[in-house]
Amino acid sequence: MTHIQQARGVERIVQGLDTQDGAGVRLTRVLSHDLQERLDPFLMLDAFGSENPGDYIAGFPNHPHRGFETVTYMIAGRMRHRDSGGNEGLLQNGGVQWMTAGRGLIHSEMPEQEEGLMEGFQLWLNLPAKNKLCEPWYRDIQSEHIPEITTHEGVLVRVIAGQSHGTAGAMQREQTEPLYLDLHFPGADNVGFEQALPRTHNALIYVYRGNLAVIRGDQATDVPIKRMAVLANDGDGLVLRAKANTRAIVIAGNPLKEPIAQYGPFVMNTREELIQAVDDFRAGLMG
Ligand code: CO
Repeated sequence: MTHIQQARGVERIVQGLDTQDGAGVRLTRVLSHDLQERLDPFLMLDAFGSENPGDYIAGFPNHPHRGFETVTYMIAGRMRHRDSGGNEGLLQNGGVQWMTAGRGLIHSEMPEQEEGLMEGFQLWLNLPAKNKLCEPWYRDIQSEHIPEITTHEGVLVRVIAGQSHGTAGAMQREQTEPLYLDLHFPGADNVGFEQALPRTHNALIYVYRGNLAVIRGDQATDVPIKRMAVLANDGDGLVLRAKANTRAIVIAGNPLKEPIAQYGPFVMNTREELIQAVDDFRAGLMG
């Protein structure tokens, strides 16, 4: 059961920026630099979705990361991952790859399809200062290993991380305590959903099908498709009401409240640590 005393309102609605990354993959950058402090511990959220191979076929050839975690959720499509630690995995239809870059690795993420829909998200989750140089680590979570629940009202909840309605997700992380849910609303309008959230957690919702409203008392704030709602930190849960067949991701986490220094794929706490990261990369110390 979920007991929410005060539902959270919407602080702002954000429209992502259409951009390209990797070798020319078209994507929408929903969370970027200007929201890193506000949405601490999250550093970036990219949404990608296209049926046109020209938008994704070039993929993400070899590139390094240091100091944070990447969480890739593939809703549709197939992507091959290889890294300098000798790991290889196929990320596909409903699966998640959780990669802790730690002190650094080099990896590639390349499509394994030449046609059809490629859709998903990549989230960057910061690491606490004390873990930024930890041993790199990753886990491929196949779709069937992501716990799912269906609420009384018929909402299918895929619990990628954290907990929802008493069900533990596929991943739990200390300190940042991320919650990552994918909500599939049923084929009827005005179905509700509630989720408890610690008051201090920063939280966002991104709608990728349909349309929903965030409800706080007698106030309803519309969140259209392809928009992110940044939730205010003014309550202990969220209450949603959606149009038929709406799909949305809900992401929340405990802020680290540490300085953020970023240079491209390296995210540390100070400028000196970034210079060290670039030096280490050039010296071949990331694999
Ligand atoms: Co990468």
